[in-house]
Amino acid sequence: MAQAITLSQSHISMSELNNLYGEKVKEIHSKMENGTSIGSDFLGWRDLPNTLPADELTSVLKTAEKLRKLAEVVVVIGVGGSYLGAKAVQDALSPYFERNVEDPELIFAGQNLSGTYMKQLLKHIDGKEVAVIVISKSGTTTEPAIAFRILLEYMENRYKEASSERIVAITDKSQGALRELADRSGFTTFVVPDDIGGRFSVLTPVGLLPIAVAGIDIEQLLAGAKDAVAEYAGDDLSSNAAYQYAAVRNHLLSEGYNVEILASFTPRFATFHEWWKQLFGESEGKDGKGIYPASVAYPTDLHSMGQYVQDGRREIFETFIQFAQPVEDSSIPTTKDNLDGLNYLSAKTMNEINDVTLQATMQAHHDGGVPLMHITADKHDAYHIGYLIYFFEAAVAMSAYLLGVNPFDQPGVEEYKKNIFRMLEKPGFVEEK
Ligand code: PA5
Repeated sequence: MAQAITLSQSHISMSELNNLYGEKVKEIHSKMENGTSIGSDFLGWRDLPNTLPADELTSVLKTAEKLRKLAEVVVVIGVGGSYLGAKAVQDALSPYFERNVEDPELIFAGQNLSGTYMKQLLKHIDGKEVAVIVISKSGTTTEPAIAFRILLEYMENRYKEASSERIVAITDKSQGALRELADRSGFTTFVVPDDIGGRFSVLTPVGLLPIAVAGIDIEQLLAGAKDAVAEYAGDDLSSNAAYQYAAVRNHLLSEGYNVEILASFTPRFATFHEWWKQLFGESEGKDGKGIYPASVAYPTDLHSMGQYVQDGRREIFETFIQFAQPVEDSSIPTTKDNLDGLNYLSAKTMNEINDVTLQATMQAHHDGGVPLMHITADKHDAYHIGYLIYFFEAAVAMSAYLLGVNPFDQPGVEEYKKNIFRMLEKPGFVEEK
């Protein structure tokens, strides 16, 4: 099987990388395999594309079909790992401007606490046929819980007893307020598996249902991820590109490069950057350690962040993602008078010029002292996005273990939650006077 994505870098030779990290990678891999690594209760994502039950997939597809028939607009409520994967894949694979007429509009809520956003959302959906997917693994996160309370009231007022037909909840199998509410109200439900954390859950119903509702082929997404599982199953650093990416990152960190910028030249890939930032930021940023994950959408950001990357503090390395075969292309017209002086480009397409701009940028940043990695995906489609998702999941687990942290917890996220409960005077959290 040919690799659907390739990784290249010239910062460190393969033999040196192997000398530095080969044995350690084998050791960590073996601990993940036999379930003795730290956080090993959360390794369910490793074989998920193979272990997702067929009847679960059928049920996701059926529910998606039902919501597509019922609704013109589907509000997807969730935050963090219960939001970013679905939005990333939807944005990456949807047309820029015109939605296919048969696809409902997906809008997201519960990822912010803006009253203005909610007010305008309610105005936007009014008069349209609406369905709601509410996603929270814990079932208690404040932001989505508030959004759902408001949307639930809206749905009940509008659709009365038929509202439960239009609401799907994705949460823990038995715990949390959302589970109880969903069971009592008779919503269709899906379970977030116990052994899969939020940021690793895009290939569970958490991501699959909204993505399928958006009209994207989730079987292709899973097929890509499944091939990636096979591709990155080995413990040999010299043949496992996901582990190479993890090892190079750690090597760069050891040399003082503590910021990684993910860069792409594909505008609709920008939300995927956000998913990647959460995956790496929450998995690695702990115990005073980590590589700060940042992102840029080029060429737009060449005109804002380009100066800093080229010339600012030398603590940055950059990982470029490129799709070898973009979906569509535009030609550059020739003009008779050539007043803008662009006729020299008219034998080229826009995508060809985009690729040259990528090469020019990589060369400039390399010359400016920015170590580079370059990931190329053969095509921009569901299969390759699924493949990339798994590549990064396999990479971040190895990378965090090499760094010496538990990839699967997020103790720091809890701190602000405790503060808002206290400040909002949630029963049980009020300070004694
Ligand atoms: O990756 C994670 O675990 C977090 O980002 C969660 O997904 C996020 O905090 C939302 O949590 P929940 O799904 O429990 O509402």
